[in-house]
Amino acid sequence: MIHVKKAFVIGHPIKHSRSPLIHGTWIAEHRIDGSYEAIDVAPEALPAFVDSIRAGAFVGGNVTIPHKEAVFALCDSVDPLARTIGAVNTLVAQPEGRIHGFNTDYMGFLGNLDQNAPGWGDRRVRAIVLGAGGAARAVLVALRERGFSEIVLLNRTVDKAVALAAEIGGPVVAGALGEFASYAAGAGLVVNTTSIGMHDTRFEDLELGLLPRTALVTDIVYVPLVTPLLADARALGLRTVDGLGMLLHQAIPGFEAWFGVRPAVTPELRARVEATL
Ligand code: ATR
Repeated sequence: MIHVKKAFVIGHPIKHSRSPLIHGTWIAEHRIDGSYEAIDVAPEALPAFVDSIRAGAFVGGNVTIPHKEAVFALCDSVDPLARTIGAVNTLVAQPEGRIHGFNTDYMGFLGNLDQNAPGWGDRRVRAIVLGAGGAARAVLVALRERGFSEIVLLNRTVDKAVALAAEIGGPVVAGALGEFASYAAGAGLVVNTTSIGMHDTRFEDLELGLLPRTALVTDIVYVPLVTPLLADARALGLRTVDGLGMLLHQAIPGFEAWFGVRPAVTPELRARVEATL
């Protein structure tokens, strides 16, 4: 019988994770008799760690790099959307030592835009997604769930975009980054899911000026908070939403599942996390 509800984030390395700050803030705010700790788990130690959850040591937790794919096989059930995304980032301990896995990244993406750009998805027009890696999968699933009529997936390596578009199905068409200009005029949303923007990198030749004045530009990169892409979009008078909110919002469903309270992303929480960037 667990008295103090213990949750975790596991990864390798893990010490730079902001998740303990986010969940710790909510635990204190809601006066929960619980804890949330970062635990460094090497790949070879993952099965034993999952066994400790089965044995009742934890109510659940988050899973990050490099375990998001490997943990799949260790779950007793996996949410269908997590399966489509190809990654589990949240575990919940269930009765009889069973473990359920799901993925909250797509909810984080949607929650961030819903909070910071209300009405952003109302017209469900064309969205342009830049990048075809793991993060793109969660964004594509999110946009598909919201009923976008056309999702244009552009990637440096076109073959990867073509393969991912075929896998996700629905209204996803694939192309090269260089084709941005031919899709821009009809786009209501641009999402960067690549790592471009970190470490002083930037997109070259992305003609943001061709987007409609009403378009929204968002980035999943949050270091720096204002990426060159977002700065360029703002200079053109376009609406922007930065990536920090996705990190904050993806934490909500896990906390609710473990502790039974749905927490909120407040300006105070955001400021606390922003101060660590
Ligand atoms: P993640 O899981 O974080 O999405 P990933 O799977 O390694 O990471 O995907 C990284 C994405 O960023 C890919 O779409 C990658 O493009 P390629 O498929 O062509 O490799 C993109 N990316 C990274 N660096 C890039 C760069 N300098 N220029 C263009 N695209 C880049």
